Amino acid sequence: MIEADQGKLYDELKQYIDTVKSKPGILISVLHKAQGLFGYLPVEVQKFIAMQLNLPFSQVYGVVTFYNFFSMKPKGKHVINVCLGTACYVKGAEKVVTNFEDALHIKMGETTSDKMFTLSSARCFGACGLAPAVMVDDEVYGQVDKKKIGEIIKKYGG
Ligand code: FES
Repeated sequence: MIEADQGKLYDELKQYIDTVKSKPGILISVLHKAQGLFGYLPVEVQKFIAMQLNLPFSQVYGVVTFYNFFSMKPKGKHVINVCLGTACYVKGAEKVVTNFEDALHIKMGETTSDKMFTLSSARCFGACGLAPAVMVDDEVYGQVDKKKIGEIIKKYGG
């Protein structure tokens, strides 16, 4: 991303912080907003937030690393969340992970070199009847097998 764009994102984040600053316990909302703007939460952005909210950097960093929906690494255009909840696990979620890793040539938690896909894991997203289930962005796919994995990757442009 070019620097001018980054500047605009920081401006927008600052405007948001200024409107919510006085509310207590606002850090999580600010981090969500920042991740929405930047796509992830690099250390520089966390430092900026700490400064704006008058918080120690360690507190911001602690929250970012505690919750797995915050990411310090850039994510791909599409995030593939493989459910590792109990129902999906017993129906072969581990195999689904391996098949995605093989098909995308990345490991769990990584992003493809063309930045199209990030492979991530999740705990039950309420589609247990469809186990093993996978969520790509906001869409849920059930009974995921090797064939379906190929179709999913193709659909999203892999
Ligand atoms: S355990 Fe996977 S959707 Fe519930």
